[in-house]
Order: sequence, then structure tokens, then C-alpha cells
Amino acid sequence: MRSLLFVPGDSPRKLEKAAGSGADVLLIDLEDSVAPSAKEAARGMVRDAVESLRGQDRRPLLYVRVNALDSGLIEADLDAVMPAHPDGIMLPKSASGVDVQHLAAKLAVREAESGLPDGGTKIIPVATEMARALFALGTYRGASHRLAGLTWGAEDLAADIGAETNRLADGTYTDPFRLARSLALFAAHGAEVDAIDTVYTDFRNDAGFLAECEAARRDGFTAKMAIHPAQVPVINAVFTPSEEAVAKARRIVDAFAASPGVGVIGMDGQMVDRPHLRQAERVLARVRG
Ligand code: COA
Ligand code: MG
Repeated sequence: MRSLLFVPGDSPRKLEKAAGSGADVLLIDLEDSVAPSAKEAARGMVRDAVESLRGQDRRPLLYVRVNALDSGLIEADLDAVMPAHPDGIMLPKSASGVDVQHLAAKLAVREAESGLPDGGTKIIPVATEMARALFALGTYRGASHRLAGLTWGAEDLAADIGAETNRLADGTYTDPFRLARSLALFAAHGAEVDAIDTVYTDFRNDAGFLAECEAARRDGFTAKMAIHPAQVPVINAVFTPSEEAVAKARRIVDAFAASPGVGVIGMDGQMVDRPHLRQAERVLARVRG
């Protein structure tokens, strides 16, 4: 997965648009983008949307962002959407790997009730939305075989710590949020799941968005969330390894394959050793999908 597009769950128009956006994953939202008074109606719309999109040929993966574990809303969210068999659930305001396990237990019950394969529904937690969650980022590794990725959020975290802003005037994150971003990146790779960068809310700022996508790829994120369909093709382009990158990776893998037992080689005037081989193998693995 490269691009994950948020769609408010109470907007049939946006749900329809999102289906043709080219996003690898739709994050159909029942949480923050749906007003409390609209939650109940949205649950039915989301169930219907998942049901009808599942039937399409070349479809995106369908994840539903439910309300948080302590919201008092999550049971009704899951009761409504699980019979439609979403590919996964996004868990907002996740405090630790234990929260993923709690959600996994709820999913197992619904899978059994709906006759779905046990463990088939994946989980992506938003793992930095509360200050305390930052101190538990090491607990996701091994938490559940359902864990498919890990992402971070800066908006709720700002509210949790009373920060006046999370970005400087030039659009870059302030230090507390850069720390959260980095820790989430390490947490995802530590857990050996997809590292998914957070949303860019200034959705008319194309240059700023491109720069943020490129910085995310540079640092090791493999995907990014979008809030607007126009962001999807940019994400897909940035997170698809370029032909040049693939060719270079192949040369490195081939060079090591041709010299078994050799730990380091010279290539184009640069030293290439085991970490470079590992990085090259990752690039090729992503092309294979
Ligand atoms: N998914 C699908 N379609 C979307 C969309 C989305 N996330 N965002 C916008 N669109 C559609 C609009 O409906 C519009 O279609 P139309 O002209 O056929 O009606 C078209 O794309 C252009 O939209 P635009 O006018 O540029 O934006 P907007 O002002 O209508 O909407 C937002 C701006 C931010 C409200 C909207 O992009 C949105 O709802 N984003 C998702 C928010 C969300 O889910 N947040 C939770 C996670 S942070
Ligand atoms: Mg939020």
C-alpha cells in the first residue's frame, strides 16, 4: 500500500468519488469527520459502501476508521460494519499494543458471528494521538498478526498537550511533532509493518504536499494518508520506486549474488555493503508488491 484516502462515512458523494480515486486503500471514517448526531446514519452508509465496493473488480482495500476504544461508540460501529467484511479497521487514539489486542478480540467475535475467516480483518493503529501513547510505541511488535501498518497523527496530539500549533510558519513540524513522527517510523519498522505517514491538511498547497511526501519516502515511510482525491496520484508517484531506483537495486542484488561470501563491494565509486543490500532487497520487494 502506498496511498490511503480518508473519506467521511456520511457522504455518499465522496464515497463514490473515492472509489475511482486510484487510492490503494480507502479509510472510510466514522470518527472525527462524522458529527456525533450523524454517527448512526453513517454506520449504515459505511456498511452499504463496503458491501457494494467489495463486489467491484479492481477495488481498493477497504478499511473503516471506527471510534476509539473508550468512546462508547466502537461496539455499535463494529456491529454495523463487520458483516460487510471490510479488509481492515483503523484504530484511532491507540494507546499501545494492548489496545490492538483488545480490538483484535472484538474482531474475532464478529468474524465468528458473520462466518468470516478468523483473523482476516487487519488493524492499523494511529499510534501517537495522546502524549502517553508515545511511551508505548515499542509495544506494537508482536501485538497481533492482524497488524498491517502503523501511522501517526499530529492534530489530536496537539490538542492533548495543549500545543498552540504543530507546524512552523514554513509548514515544517515543530520539535514535539517531529519526535512523534520519528518514533512512529521506528515503531512501524520495529514491528515489521508498513510505516504510514500522516495527513497533510493544507490540501490546496501542492508544493508543500509534494515536499512532505518526498521527505516521508526519504526517511523510510512506505505510504501516506490523503484527505483529498487530488493528493492520491502524488502519493502513488512518490511511493512507487522509480525505474532508476529499481535498476540500481537490481545491480546491487546481482553484484552480491555474483560474489557469494563477499561482504563489501565498490560500485560507481561508492562503498556498498550489507545494509545497502538489505535496502536494495526492500526496493525490489516493494515493486513485486
Ligand atoms: N474523498 C472523496 N471525495 C472527496 C474527498 C475525499 N476525501 N474530498 C473531496 N472530495 C470530492 C468533493 O466531494 C468534490 O466532488 P464534487 O465536486 O463532485 O462534489 C471534489 O472532490 C473536489 O473537492 P473540493 O471542492 O476540492 O474539496 P471540498 O471543499 O469539497 O472538501 C474537505 C474539502 C477537506 C472537506 C474534503 O476533502 C474531505 O472531506 N476530506 C476528508 C476529511 C476526513 O475524512 N478527515 C478525517 C481524517 S483527518
Ligand atoms: Mg482525529
